[in-house]
Amino acid sequence: MVKYIGSKRVLTPLLRRLAELLPIRTACDVFAGTTRAGQAFREADVVVHSNDTATYSEALGQAYIAAGDCDRARLPELLDHLRGLPPRHGYFTETFCVRSSYFQTHNGMRVDAIRDEIDRLSVTPVERGLLLTSLLEAADRVDSTCGLQMAFVKEWSRRSYAELDLRVPRRVPGPTGTVGRADANALASRLQGCDCAYLDPPYNQHSYFSNYHIWETLVRWDAPETYGVACKRIDCRDEKSLYNSRRSAWPAFSQLVEALPTPWLVVSFNDEGFHEPDLVAALLSEKGHVATLAVDYKRYVGAQIGIYNPSGEKVGKVSHLRNTETLFVVGPDRALVEGAASSVALAPALV
Ligand SMILES: C[S@@+](CC[C@H](N)C(=O)[O-])C[C@H]1O[C@@H](n2cnc3c(N)ncnc32)[C@H](O)[C@@H]1O
Repeated sequence: MVKYIGSKRVLTPLLRRLAELLPIRTACDVFAGTTRAGQAFREADVVVHSNDTATYSEALGQAYIAAGDCDRARLPELLDHLRGLPPRHGYFTETFCVRSSYFQTHNGMRVDAIRDEIDRLSVTPVERGLLLTSLLEAADRVDSTCGLQMAFVKEWSRRSYAELDLRVPRRVPGPTGTVGRADANALASRLQGCDCAYLDPPYNQHSYFSNYHIWETLVRWDAPETYGVACKRIDCRDEKSLYNSRRSAWPAFSQLVEALPTPWLVVSFNDEGFHEPDLVAALLSEKGHVATLAVDYKRYVGAQIGIYNPSGEKVGKVSHLRNTETLFVVGPDRALVEGAASSVALAPALV
């Protein structure tokens, strides 16, 4: 799985347990990102619709939420073919290895060759998602960043010397689901018939589109014009989520909650964000009974390393190394809400 700020890696055992305890058969992961939360629901036998505005999240969703066993049958053969391609110097190498230093050239040239070939192969949308996921995760393992693509580190990271290695994406047990790329607020009212929505919106001003611009380009393969030392896509200047502005985030979140027709909601917010847990709980209580859980865990890997400017120089110290994530469980049955939340809270080994 790729490095992703705000990813729910640590919360997944807890989300899986909640999904097992609540009376839900279908769920929408509305801000899916890496799809880790959706995978936890799928593992609990829930049919998941994975949604995010990011194109790379759609590819990850095809691999981890939509793919069934038959979609994986041709993968070993397809990956072998991609592994054998001769490297070539294209847009990716020029932009991310020569004009910037996110990857070493030997790996950038393999990305160029493999990504071009994926577009030439005759594959289904799910197979394509599996191949793109394999490439994205392979590139993530040899990058030279702190986990964010707003900067690369000044000295090559140790892992960047390794060879790009295409692996078969993990098989996620559970029913096959679906994938979409809608704006959360536009999607909300279309979720009639869905039992549960999991909400993990961006929590502060940092834009995912900008922070993961290379993954967006790798999947879209649209060779955009770029700007600055970080070689960001030119459309990073205009593509803004309402959830990244202090002024618009709360109205957007309130409107989303109000529009959602699902009887059950699971919501998570991190303590580095705009919103006060008490206000979130008050808003959610208009939809049903609410139980909250505070989960303390180590911050994302970049914070352990330090803060870097776009030239890759270390410019500051990290303020703290731990985060609290507040998880809200909302539903129509008080006993079930409280029972599920306390059962999860009583299992510290899960986190
Ligand atoms: C906190 S991250 C979610 C992390 C995810 N739960 C995980 O474990 O990887 C927020 C996600 O919301 C997406 N996003 C931002 N604005 C959105 C919008 N208006 N509608 C849908 N998704 C949006 C971002 O692309 C990002 O992936």
